Amino acid sequence: MGFVIAIDGPAASGKGTIALRLGETLDLPVLDTGLLYRAVGAAVLASGGDPDDEAAAGRTARALDPGRLDEDALRGREAGEAASRVAVHPQVRAALLDVQRAFARREPGAILDGRDIGTVVAPEAPCKIYVTASAAVRARRRHAQLLGRGETVAYDAILADIRRRDERDGGRAAAPLARAADAALLDTTDLDIDHAFDAALRIVEASRGRWETS
Ligand code: DC
Repeated sequence: MGFVIAIDGPAASGKGTIALRLGETLDLPVLDTGLLYRAVGAAVLASGGDPDDEAAAGRTARALDPGRLDEDALRGREAGEAASRVAVHPQVRAALLDVQRAFARREPGAILDGRDIGTVVAPEAPCKIYVTASAAVRARRRHAQLLGRGETVAYDAILADIRRRDERDGGRAAAPLARAADAALLDTTDLDIDHAFDAALRIVEASRGRWETS
């Protein structure tokens, strides 16, 4: 395995932006694994299916073409909620595991962000970061993001979304959101994105130093 950076954390913690900036700085490919779950959730809804139906969601996940995701369309609120619902199903998680592991095997390394990268997808990753922030701060960030996309929605509704998602993603039996024992904790509650990125880069540099000498 090359130099894999596993970034996990709850919704709107900043992990996606950190992953992209690390990718640019280190010239490594980045996989936002949430997009895979969003694509499955959105496809189930588009076909009139029920995201809570494991068999239907599992079939959709097995048929997914991960090379053809309409990233912009998948960033909305509805796709996020559907993603969190299909993500509880073991059949869906199993169907998406191979594509994530294949990405993690890229040379000279790769960056993946999600909920279970450090614990399930790439438990042997030499660098793991668990990014978090208070629910109120994450809701503020997500609210601003959605307004920027033209979705008019109240802050309180987004805070409720975030709390429900934390509960579902962290409480499910299959690969719940969790900090791996060897993941560095990065709390971005009081950090803007530049400071959060600097802190992430320091964690990565320390891990890379250990990895190169091991
Ligand atoms: O990171 P995101 O908000 O785009 O993720 C959407 C949902 O997908 C999230 O609520 C839970 C699920 N997910 C997951 O279960 N495992 C991952 N590795 C990534 C996302």
